[in-house]
Amino acid sequence: MTPASPKILFATSEAHPLIKTGGLADVSGALPAALHALGVDIKILIPGYPAVLTQCPHATLFAQLPNPFAPGRVEILESRMPESTLPVLIVRYDAFFNREGGPYQQVGGDDWLDNVLRFGLLSYVAAWLGSSGNASAWQPDLIHCNDWQTGLAPAYLRFWPGRKPPVIMTIHNLAYQGVFGPESIPLLQLPAESFKMQGLEYYGNLSFLKAGVFYADRITTVSPTYAREIQHETLGFGMQGLLHERRAVLSGILNGIDMQEWDPQRDPHLPHRYSAKQLGNKAKNKAALQQELGLALDAHAPLVAIISRITYQKGSYLALGVMHDLAREGVQFALLGMGETAIELAFANLALEHPDRISVTIGYAEDMSHRIEAGADMFLMPSHYEPCGLNQMYSQRYGTPPIAHATGGLVDTIVNATPTHLASGDATGFLFREMTRPACNEAVRRAVRLYRDPQVWQQLQSAGMQRDFSWQNSALEYLKLYRSLPI
Ligand code: ADP
Ligand code: GLC
Repeated sequence: MTPASPKILFATSEAHPLIKTGGLADVSGALPAALHALGVDIKILIPGYPAVLTQCPHATLFAQLPNPFAPGRVEILESRMPESTLPVLIVRYDAFFNREGGPYQQVGGDDWLDNVLRFGLLSYVAAWLGSSGNASAWQPDLIHCNDWQTGLAPAYLRFWPGRKPPVIMTIHNLAYQGVFGPESIPLLQLPAESFKMQGLEYYGNLSFLKAGVFYADRITTVSPTYAREIQHETLGFGMQGLLHERRAVLSGILNGIDMQEWDPQRDPHLPHRYSAKQLGNKAKNKAALQQELGLALDAHAPLVAIISRITYQKGSYLALGVMHDLAREGVQFALLGMGETAIELAFANLALEHPDRISVTIGYAEDMSHRIEAGADMFLMPSHYEPCGLNQMYSQRYGTPPIAHATGGLVDTIVNATPTHLASGDATGFLFREMTRPACNEAVRRAVRLYRDPQVWQQLQSAGMQRDFSWQNSALEYLKLYRSLPI
C-alpha cells in the first residue's frame, strides 16, 4: 500500500464473528478484513455488547470522552478481531451496551427503548474520532458508516467546527430507517436548525438513515440493481426522492462472501466434503441431511432449502404457499429460520402435515446452515426485495442452484437458466419476475425438470461452483471510492 493510503474508520452495529443478526455482520467482518489484507489502515468501530467484550478480553484503552447523553465517560477500547490482526475499536458504555439481549431488541423481541441514545452514541463516537476532539495518534481520514445505526455521524461532523473527514454511507437495507420523534433532537445534542427537510427531518420525525443519506459525501448500497431500485417508489420506502436527487453520488458495490468459511472442500461442518469433481459426496450430504431432519430417505426427491429471517422482506408467506403446493408433488423442503411468530407457527404446522417432505427448524444455527447448503439440491429465495443477499452466493458455491425473485442483488449474482444461458453454459440458477405463488411454483418446477436431467444439472452446478464471489473485487472497488474522495 502506498503511504497516501487513507486511514479508514468502519462504523457498524454488528460484525461477524463478534456479534451477528444478519448479513450486515457478514459484510462488516469480511470487507474490512479484505481491505486490511490489501494493506489498508482500517479499524472497525462497534458497541461493547457482552459478546464483544468477552471475545476481546485484552482490549486496551484507546481514548475516552464524556458521554454527551448520560452521566459518566465513554471509553473507546482497542483490540483485534478474533484470530485476526484487524483492529477493532469498542465503544464501552456499560449502561447502554453491556446488557443481556440482542443488539437492537430485548429478550421478548421489543426494541430497546433507548435505541435512540444507544445508536446516537455510536454515531457520535464515530464522528468524534474523525473530529478535532480526537487527540490520539490515530485519526481517520474517512469514515465509512453502515445502516441507520451510524447515520448521524455525518450530521454531527457537519455542525461541529474543525476537522471534517468525508463520510461514506452504505445502505444495507432501506426498510430500517431509525425513525424517532422530534423531541430526540435536543437529547441528541443536534442543533435545532438540522431539523428541516434539507436536513434530518423525515415526515415530521427524525431519521438517522435520512441524516446519513443527506449529509454523507457518498452513498453506496450493496448491489447495482438495488441502487437503481431505491430511487423509485416501490422500493424507495419513502426516501426515493432524496436518493434520486443524490444519484450522482449514489452507487452500488456488490457484496462478496467469505470464500474460506464457505468452501465445500474444507467446511468442517459437513459430514462429507466435496468439489465440482466429486459431486457424489454432495449426494452423501443429502442423505445425511434427510436423516438428520427426519425427511424420507429418497435420493431422487428434489430437496429445496430455505435459510432466512422469517419476515415480509424474505417472502416468507410466498414460501409457505409454495411449500404447501409442491410438497404434494413430491418436492422436499428444509427450512431453517426465525422471525415473525405467526409465520413461524404456520411453517411448523405445515411440517406436521408432511413430516416426510417438510422439515422446519425454528432458530438460528450457523453449523446447520452449512449442512443444509451442502445437502440440499436447490435453494429458494422468494424475497420481495433484496439489497444484496448472501445465501444465493453460498448456494452457488455449494452446487445448490438458487431459485430467486428477480430483485436487487439476486439479479446481479444469479445467471438465469434461460435457453440462451443454458446453451452457453453460464447459467447458475433460476429467476422469476412476478412475486406471485404461481410464478414461484413454476420456477421451482422448472428447476425440478432440469434436475431430472443429470447432465444439464451438473453443468448448472459446476458453473455456479466456479464463480468468484470473493471479497477481493468488492474491496478494490471500495478502495477506489475511498481514494476518489478529497482527504
Ligand atoms: P439479511 O441480512 O437480510 O438477513 P443476507 O442474505 O444478507 O440477509 O444474510 C443473512 C445471513 O444470515 C446469511 O449468512 C444466512 O446464512 C444467515 N442466516 C439467516 N437466518 C439464519 C438462521 N436461522 N440460522 C443460521 N444462519 C442464518
Ligand atoms: C441486509 C440486506 C441483505 C444484504 C445484507 C448485507 O441485511 O437485507 O440483502 O445482503 O444487508 O449487505
